[in-house]
Amino acid sequence: MYKVIKTNDGSFSLFDVKMKESYHSKHGAIKEAKHVFLKNGLLSLNKDEIAILEIGFGTGLNTLLTLKESKKNNININYHTLEPYPISQNMYNILNYHKILGMEKQIFLELHNIKWNEEKKIDDFFILKKIKKSIQMFNAEKKYDLVYFDAFSPKKQPELWKPDILRKIFFLLKNNGFLVTYCAQGKFKRNLKEIGYQVISLDGPPGKREMIKAIRK
Ligand SMILES: C[S@@+](CC[C@H](N)C(=O)[O-])C[C@H]1O[C@@H](n2cnc3c(N)ncnc32)[C@H](O)[C@@H]1O
Repeated sequence: MYKVIKTNDGSFSLFDVKMKESYHSKHGAIKEAKHVFLKNGLLSLNKDEIAILEIGFGTGLNTLLTLKESKKNNININYHTLEPYPISQNMYNILNYHKILGMEKQIFLELHNIKWNEEKKIDDFFILKKIKKSIQMFNAEKKYDLVYFDAFSPKKQPELWKPDILRKIFFLLKNNGFLVTYCAQGKFKRNLKEIGYQVISLDGPPGKREMIKAIRK
């Protein structure tokens, strides 16, 4: 069961009642996503062709933001996103991201309504494939420049932050490819270093001191 909540920048998020965890920071869902995944992810890459893997499609916010940026900056993006537990139509119908970002609702709904496990050209710059699988069950056919690691927190979903998953992501990345995440927990950073990532602590989004960028060197 989910509840829709309003975060401090006016954008909505979902609260998973059973898990007692929200999908985004209460300080602003859009602000957080822009800071972690766009500013320190996509826009720090300086490439015009980028393959992205997202861990947790969820509300579709990161996908919508990335779609908007691809057009604005003429970046060709191949976007794969994993989601074993898709949210219902009732839920995504209420979300207000398109409104705040000045985009058509139709575009946001299309991201949710396209078929699972099939590549779909959304526009000239953006190809999307939503994969209805967990990261544990995912077998990639290609490597990625960038991973949006947007799982629930280590407290709520510890299995996703353990060395086996982080190692799997390491080998899904191209050389010099990297993951970004809102989390900067000490144990997580140590795990990353042990696997061989170069770990960089960056200023966090509103309400968080740090976030992590981890590069496959
Ligand atoms: C913190 S939410 C963020 C979702 C999304 N990026 C957004 O902005 O709405 C974490 C997401 O990871 C998904 N998830 C849970 N377990 C997963 C797994 N094993 N592999 C991939 N995704 C998972 C959840 O269903 C949820 O949608």
